Amino acid sequence: MMFEKGFLDVKVDPSIDIFEEINNLKKQKNVLLLAHYYQDADIQDIADYIGDSLGLAQQAEKTNADIILFAGVHFMAETAKILNPGKKVLIPDLNAGCSLADSCPPDKFAEFKKNHPDHIVITYINCTAEIKALSDIICTSSNAVQIVESLPVEQKIIFAPDKNLGAYINKKTGRNMVLWDGSCMVHEIFSLEKITRLQSQNPNAQLIAHPECEAALLEKADFIGSTTALLNYTKKSTVKEFIVATETGILHQMLKANPDKTFIPAPPNNACACNDCPHMKLNTLEKIYIALKYEQPELIMSADLIERSKKPILKMLELSAKFGL
Ligand code: 13P
Ligand code: SF4
Repeated sequence: MMFEKGFLDVKVDPSIDIFEEINNLKKQKNVLLLAHYYQDADIQDIADYIGDSLGLAQQAEKTNADIILFAGVHFMAETAKILNPGKKVLIPDLNAGCSLADSCPPDKFAEFKKNHPDHIVITYINCTAEIKALSDIICTSSNAVQIVESLPVEQKIIFAPDKNLGAYINKKTGRNMVLWDGSCMVHEIFSLEKITRLQSQNPNAQLIAHPECEAALLEKADFIGSTTALLNYTKKSTVKEFIVATETGILHQMLKANPDKTFIPAPPNNACACNDCPHMKLNTLEKIYIALKYEQPELIMSADLIERSKKPILKMLELSAKFGL
């Protein structure tokens, strides 16, 4: 079936209770609904599990559900499918891509790899399955530093596709990984000038940032971590105010966990006050309901690609378990 719009264009009866309908469909069809922290609040509230990229991959690996509905972006649903080739994986909108994954085309990356023959390839999970198939180990922002540190210091490493995360790991570990020149459109457009202004207006606020942000911003941050690490930091900290430099979806869980604290989204370099990922935000409750009802769009991958891309993901999960992550 073709999806010109990326989803089934079916009208949803406005009189239904969409939360109840989604819950009923989930039960009837034995569905696991996974949602990334960057999803809208109402999607997070109806998910069976909300998490960062590592947590979501771990849930996908261990599920007994018959169907996985992935409220996130395409590469995340692909990872779930690679780990569960026998299960149906649904994605609310096939157009929910990722600028970071798009910044690393497989043909160009294969050439880059050829030019660095004695290097191990560590790739951030935000990439296509074709790139995963060209990699030795996958990582996420939760485990990247530990995975790099688990390799001997003399081991030469290519890190792709995020140059900002790669530079952050190089700085933290003292390694000199060769970096692919890719980046995330959301984390690259924060305005340092506006953030500095916010800091002077809110002198007690701490700046917390995702490592996909540029080095100049990370240098100013009081804490750097994956979305889960940022959330956990706000729970443990005695600080009451935070300027949050990542996608705004995470603020929903931060506010839920810390109703007495203030969270200020770091502003981007445009007219908006906060920073949304346009890919993540393509998903809606209506598209989730339609996907569950009609079991479309389904993520389809060839058996060959699943086979070629599986090993580096399993390696990441094995190492993460070893690190207690
Ligand atoms: P994490 O889920 O690892 O925090 O990464 C954030 C992100 O950009 C996902 O697309
Ligand atoms: Fe990709 Fe950035 Fe959106 Fe994450 S936030 S899905 S890395 S574009």
